[in-house]
Amino acid sequence: MTALLAEKTAVVTGAASGIGRQIAHTFASHGADVVVADIQEEPREGGTPTHELIREDTATQAEATFVECDVTSRDDVDTAVAAATEFGGLDIMVNNAGIVGPTAPIQDIDPDEYDRLLEINLDGTYTCCQAAVEAMLKRGEGGSIVNMSSVAGIAGYANLTPYSMAKGGIRMLTYSLAAEVGQHGIRVNAIHPGVIETEMTTSDFPIVGTDEEAATLETIPLGRFGKPEDVANVTTFLASDLSSYVTAESIVVDGGAFRSA
Ligand SMILES: NC(=O)c1ccc[n+]([C@@H]2O[C@H](COP(=O)([O-])OP(=O)(O)OC[C@H]3O[C@@H](n4cnc5c(N)ncnc54)[C@H](O)[C@@H]3O)[C@@H](O)[C@H]2O)c1
Repeated sequence: MTALLAEKTAVVTGAASGIGRQIAHTFASHGADVVVADIQEEPREGGTPTHELIREDTATQAEATFVECDVTSRDDVDTAVAAATEFGGLDIMVNNAGIVGPTAPIQDIDPDEYDRLLEINLDGTYTCCQAAVEAMLKRGEGGSIVNMSSVAGIAGYANLTPYSMAKGGIRMLTYSLAAEVGQHGIRVNAIHPGVIETEMTTSDFPIVGTDEEAATLETIPLGRFGKPEDVANVTTFLASDLSSYVTAESIVVDGGAFRSA
């Protein structure tokens, strides 16, 4: 059986840690060469850097490299895309980099923190989409762009207003861009994770392992928090030709919480 992502090249932003790290590793296990684009090489949760993990994994034949990339810098993003060109050309762009803070009532939010949140989560995703589309159009072989939103991009959550605004913006960026570039064979989709066990939910905006854990679990029909693998598998579907007639779509990966009363 041919690997799902054989002969494909992907850039995954925020791939040093958490969900992005798992996406990069899963892509490689399905045959894709991967550019790990992140502000830091070391995983936030500790362990071997993602590109080294992929290279050391004897079960994958894939290439992997790390590019220091802040998604708020178009120059950095261009460097990451150029690294994909060296692997053969950009087929898949996963815009996953993001932060959760500031998490506070609106009256307590510092304007600089607000600006930084929007700059990374929304403007950064836009910049990566722009660079990816330019590269894919130049190459003329289509492509798949996957944007990491959140359930907070479809529903309101107290003390997460700037985050929700950015993630909602990512959803509309996805729909609009899909309408624009579909004619060129470029698909654009979004994923909306619920609570996934990463540093974001254990440390930055703690839910996992807190007093709120049991109450939150009760709202999840599948009765558990998500693992990075749960998101990585859906991302692999959207990146691969299995989803060749899927664009302008947004998929919720949250164990059923969002659509359950
Ligand atoms: N964990 C969850 O429950 C959850 C839920 C919904 C959505 N998400 C989204 O999934 C994505 C990944 O989250 P995670 O939980 O893996 O978080 P994480 O903190 O574990 O990993 C985020 C990675 O992004 C990198 N990063 C931060 N700012 C960056 C920048 N400016 N440029 C490039 N890289 C940058 C970090 O260095 C880190 O490696 C984020 O967009 C997040 O909003 C996460």
